[in-house]
Amino acid sequence: MSQWTPSPFPVPGDIGEILITGEQIVDRVAAIGRQIAHDFRGEVPMVVGVLKGSVIFVADLIRAIDGPVQLDFLAVSSYGDQTKSTGVVRIIKDLDHEVTDRHVIIVEDIVDSGLTLRYLIEYMNARRPASVRTCTLLLREGDHTDDLDIDYVGFDIPPAFVVGYGLDAAQNYRNLGYIAEYTGS
Ligand code: IMP
Ligand code: MG
Repeated sequence: MSQWTPSPFPVPGDIGEILITGEQIVDRVAAIGRQIAHDFRGEVPMVVGVLKGSVIFVADLIRAIDGPVQLDFLAVSSYGDQTKSTGVVRIIKDLDHEVTDRHVIIVEDIVDSGLTLRYLIEYMNARRPASVRTCTLLLREGDHTDDLDIDYVGFDIPPAFVVGYGLDAAQNYRNLGYIAEYTGS
C-alpha cells in the first residue's frame, strides 16, 4: 500500500466567502426553467451547454423546464488554467447536431468580459438558427457587457474569481454545491 494521504477538502485558504448558497441556486434555476418553458411554449429549443463550467447548471436547468427540450454541448477555451483571460476563444469540441432553423439557447456558467458569449452568438448565427437566446448562471459586475443583451441571468456577482456549481479554478472545486470566492493561488 502506498502512503498517499489525501489533502483536506477544500484545501485551507482556497475558499472564501460563500456568495450564493445551494438553496438560492435551486430557487433561481427553477424560476429560469419556468420562464424558458413559458417563452418556448410550442417549440423544442436546443439547449447548448458550454463545457465544462455550465454542466451542473444545464443539468439542473433542463429538468426545471416543463416541456420538450434537446441538449447539445460545445467546449471552448479562453482561459486555459489561468484565472485571467488570454483573450482568445477556441472551439475545442463542436456541436453534435445541426442548429439550422432551430431555436437555440446558449447556456454559460459565467459571463465576464463577454468575449466567449459574443463569439458563440456569432458562431451560432452563422449556422442560420431560427433564433439564438443566451442564458448565464452568473454575470460579473462590470461595464464590459453593455452591448450584450443576455436573456436569462441567474445572479449578478461582484468582481471576484469564483468556484463551485460547475465553475473551476484549474479544474478544481466544480463539485461544490454553492458559489464561493476563490482565495487560493
Ligand atoms: P469571458 O469570455 O471573459 O466572458 O469569460 C467567460 C468564461 O471564463 C466562462 O465561461 C468561464 O469558463 C471563465 N471564467 C470567468 N470567470 C470565472 C470565474 O470566476 N471562475 C471560473 N471560471 C471563470
Ligand atoms: Mg473554466
